Amino acid sequence: MTAWELLFEGFDPADEGRREALCVVGNGYLATRGAAPESVADGVHYPGTYVAGCYNRVTSRIAGHDIEDESMVNLPNWLLLTFRIDDGPWFAPDSAELLEHEQELDMERGLLLRRLRFRDARGRTTRLVQRRFVHLGSPHLAGLETTIVAEDWSGRLTFRSGIDGRITNAGVARYRALNGRHLIEHGTEEARPDTVLLHARTSQSGILVAEACRSTVWCDAEVVEPTRTLCRQDDLIAQQMSVDLTPGRQARLEKIVSVHTSRDLAATEPREEAVGDLADAAGFDDLLATHVLAWDQVWSRYRCGLSADVEARQAVNLNLFHLAQTLSTHTADLDVGVPARGLHGEAYRGHVFWDELFVLPTITLRTPHLTRSLLLYRHRRLPQARLAARREGLTGAMYPWQSGSNGREESQFMHLNPESGRWLRDDTHLQRHIGIAIAYNVWHYYQATGDEEFLSSFGAEMILEITRFFASLARYDHGRDRYVIRGVVGPDEYHTAYPGSDRPGIDNHAYTNIMTAWLCRVAVDVVTTVLPTERGDELMETLRLRHREIDRWRRMSRKLFVPFHDDGVISQFEGYERLAELDWDDYRRRYPDIHRLDRILEAEGRDPNDFQASKQADVLMLFYLLSSDELIEILRDLGYDFTGEQIPKNIEYYLGRTSHGSTLSSVVHAWVLARSHRARAVEFFDRAIVSDLHDVQKGTTQEGIHLAGMVGGVDLLQRCFAGIEVREGVLRLDPHWPAELGVLELTIRYHHQPVLVRVSGRTVTVRTAPGPRRPAIRCVCGPESVLLGPGETVHFSTRAASHAGRGPTPASADEL
Ligand code: BGC
Repeated sequence: MTAWELLFEGFDPADEGRREALCVVGNGYLATRGAAPESVADGVHYPGTYVAGCYNRVTSRIAGHDIEDESMVNLPNWLLLTFRIDDGPWFAPDSAELLEHEQELDMERGLLLRRLRFRDARGRTTRLVQRRFVHLGSPHLAGLETTIVAEDWSGRLTFRSGIDGRITNAGVARYRALNGRHLIEHGTEEARPDTVLLHARTSQSGILVAEACRSTVWCDAEVVEPTRTLCRQDDLIAQQMSVDLTPGRQARLEKIVSVHTSRDLAATEPREEAVGDLADAAGFDDLLATHVLAWDQVWSRYRCGLSADVEARQAVNLNLFHLAQTLSTHTADLDVGVPARGLHGEAYRGHVFWDELFVLPTITLRTPHLTRSLLLYRHRRLPQARLAARREGLTGAMYPWQSGSNGREESQFMHLNPESGRWLRDDTHLQRHIGIAIAYNVWHYYQATGDEEFLSSFGAEMILEITRFFASLARYDHGRDRYVIRGVVGPDEYHTAYPGSDRPGIDNHAYTNIMTAWLCRVAVDVVTTVLPTERGDELMETLRLRHREIDRWRRMSRKLFVPFHDDGVISQFEGYERLAELDWDDYRRRYPDIHRLDRILEAEGRDPNDFQASKQADVLMLFYLLSSDELIEILRDLGYDFTGEQIPKNIEYYLGRTSHGSTLSSVVHAWVLARSHRARAVEFFDRAIVSDLHDVQKGTTQEGIHLAGMVGGVDLLQRCFAGIEVREGVLRLDPHWPAELGVLELTIRYHHQPVLVRVSGRTVTVRTAPGPRRPAIRCVCGPESVLLGPGETVHFSTRAASHAGRGPTPASADEL
């Protein structure tokens, strides 16, 4: 086992879905699950190919209601590749005796390998090696190479290579009652002698999709020109090509694929683009070489060297690998957001939630222009968010909890509890805190990059409109002389109403209210001091923002209501402390897994709303997003006396009442415990980084990775334990580095230049890249502040700093 490969030995049908999701190859535009090329969706295998932002809406009849939902569409399966010997059966994993089966994900090169040997019913032994990539440099291209060696037989080998359009969206068992047919008007064509094409259209969004594949056959080292037989079956098109083999000889089929949609830029029409690409595309090995080069360049930015055990390093690499495959420079042009489950499966239908909150900081430290483009996805949907607010009788911008194509609310209003088989009302769309997360991301992107042009042209408008929304949501309560916010849901989705109440939502949700106070402060600052005066005036004019509104924001930042228990614990929401206590030991005894306690309770005929039991970190999000100084100051301005000493008590209180039903929960808990309970923080970190690798939510990884959990886990290393923070033109380091994690070494991009950061024990080393025209950077660790010129190194210890000038080069990540 190495840190750069993931190896799966044997074939385990029960684990195939997880393996397929972990072995996705993709490039931010296109991604394909690690399904076997000869497989179809059959309950074990699930071939899935997704293009970022390719959504479609369909209507289904569920529990007496017509429900329209929008999904990321599963596109035709370009992997389709099988073979047979003489007139034997087409190869399928269960049609032969598998002697060896091994799959390897090479994360450094973005290559998925499969090696197998099998014996067929006539006792013939065959060896097969497959390699596949989705090109990281040329986003429309993919390659699949299949090499077959006849070990002990002579005969005719026939390949079948093509594209299978007979697919639907059927990857998530819970959604199977929903209509999964998104593609219509399929057409197939033999576009050239070696190339077939399949095209279709999404039924509602009208996106044209075209996939073409070019197949070339080799026998040993020679290209052969076999007779090609065209094969069409419903919406499948393939070519069959035969070669004669004798013992020890090998046949190889190279399949190069091009995928285009009508959403592409710099394109005429998808069919023409797909076929045109293949007329020109290089062969498998040449494409692989440029693909590997592209990965090399991505890893030079994203590599996170850790000298901890190989399992931890492997998990860190895997998580960053899937980040880079979901969001890459190709994503930047696509007008897409951060899909919660990557481009890896169909859970949550490819929707965009608040998860970017956990993902963007890692991107900003390496490819800030990508963060900018992901924030623009939100800006383009500002009109929809305004419309949504207006429809509620409110002002400003109300961003949807779940977003897809145009920014309409895509949350489901009914969901199926697989434990009870019942369809239930779903009010989780009341998570208004999504708007705060968007404003927070905008503000922190600006803080980290100083991108004034972005703030001025796009970011400020979002911050102001979101603040306006929260100001209209809040009501002034005369009795309390405080602003209150009613009828919302927090990150803890278990509480969507008060016990026995029909009114959806809960009141004065602490995280929402405190973050609204934070938002009001930022918004006032942005419009009065941060923006250049003329831009501030312009925005006031365009948005018809009145001074009295800004005054209201100021008042809200001093008078929002925050509920507390009697003993100084922040109440998750008003009345939380009056809910019943849950007998956690009893549930842990009775159920092997209580992550989804909500489903268990409902199946038992109980209601999660009745209990002090949370799905994930909620109040604790405050300690994740705000420094303790910031939080104390916000609460002080609100008139609440809160001290740093109260923080551990809050953490303990909610830690004991959380089922960790989201992978985000471990990330947040590791973060908030890092300063007080390092050992427990490391336990949560260990759990966070393997959440998909080990499928800790038991069965959900196969439906798509949990991108925010994956990336948030790695982010713990850099921003939490190493304490790297870029803000206001300064690179700050405040390490709380757990010795057991060994040495961390990574390179961030700061002010457009690579800066190497190495943390080991109590020492932090920062080294800037040499070269002319690079500005000096200000670097602060504890009381020490150093200005580093190009090619300079500084060593800080938690006690003192030593400026080494052009000092010795620290060990490279490879040596770790
Ligand atoms: C979590 C949300 C998250 C969503 C998508 C849910 O299970 O509760 O916080 O945004 O998954 O990842």
